[in-house]
Amino acid sequence: MRILFVGDIVGSPGRDMVKEYLPKLKTKYRPQLAVVNGENAAGGRGMTQKIYRELLNAGADAITLGNHAWDNKDIFEFIDDAKYMVRPANFPEGTPGKGMMLIKAGGTEFAIINLQGRTFMNALDDPFRKAEELVERAKKKTHYIFVDFHAETTSEKQAMGWFLDGKVSAVVGTHTHVQTSDARVLPNGTAYLTDVGMTGPYDAILGMEKSAVIKKFMTSLPVRFEVPKSGRKILSACIIDLDKKTGRAAQIQNLLINEDHPFIAE
Ligand SMILES: [Fe+2]
Ligand SMILES: [Fe+2]
Repeated sequence: MRILFVGDIVGSPGRDMVKEYLPKLKTKYRPQLAVVNGENAAGGRGMTQKIYRELLNAGADAITLGNHAWDNKDIFEFIDDAKYMVRPANFPEGTPGKGMMLIKAGGTEFAIINLQGRTFMNALDDPFRKAEELVERAKKKTHYIFVDFHAETTSEKQAMGWFLDGKVSAVVGTHTHVQTSDARVLPNGTAYLTDVGMTGPYDAILGMEKSAVIKKFMTSLPVRFEVPKSGRKILSACIIDLDKKTGRAAQIQNLLINEDHPFIAE
């Protein structure tokens, strides 16, 4: 069993990379399940119904979100009907959308859980206790459980990895937009990667136009960040192999596509 996961898709450059490379990655790696994080897919901020469909049409089976989930008000119009999308599960009771989904892909059922960290981020419910609760529910249906932990700090992400080791197939981080080089399988069989990294503009600062971000740091005045419309691009992803009998991870491989790491078909 194999899962392909693509990190934070930023704006149209990110969507272009997904449209160009997701089919190629699927041909090369033959994953049963392809998941993408779409929290920045609409101009760097949030998700629209049109883009939700666009990502599914590009080959994504499911979409996860994060703190930017609500940035585009379009989300409130369709999130309750968006069968193939999850937002962080530890938003307060009554928040639109859902934090866990069960999906049949490649003839197998997978559980996908999205959680958000609390360190240097908005106050939410405890992601650890929420994870425990959702994993208990998911385990009744499947032993393939994938967790996208959308968090700022490495320590909170590592803590979640170790907390869920042996309980889920994978804990991979999103949100910080730069891929970390610590992909590993933890001792009890959970694949772990602190951050998958982003998909979108390459010569940019976390996917945003450089000069505006530099100006922000130099002036501390309000600056509007925009996604650059042209220029080089990156796709950041990982591939996780799971044992059929146990649902535990056998291997996790990080993946980058950019000019420094060109895609090789075979
Ligand atoms: Fe992001
Ligand atoms: Fe984020």
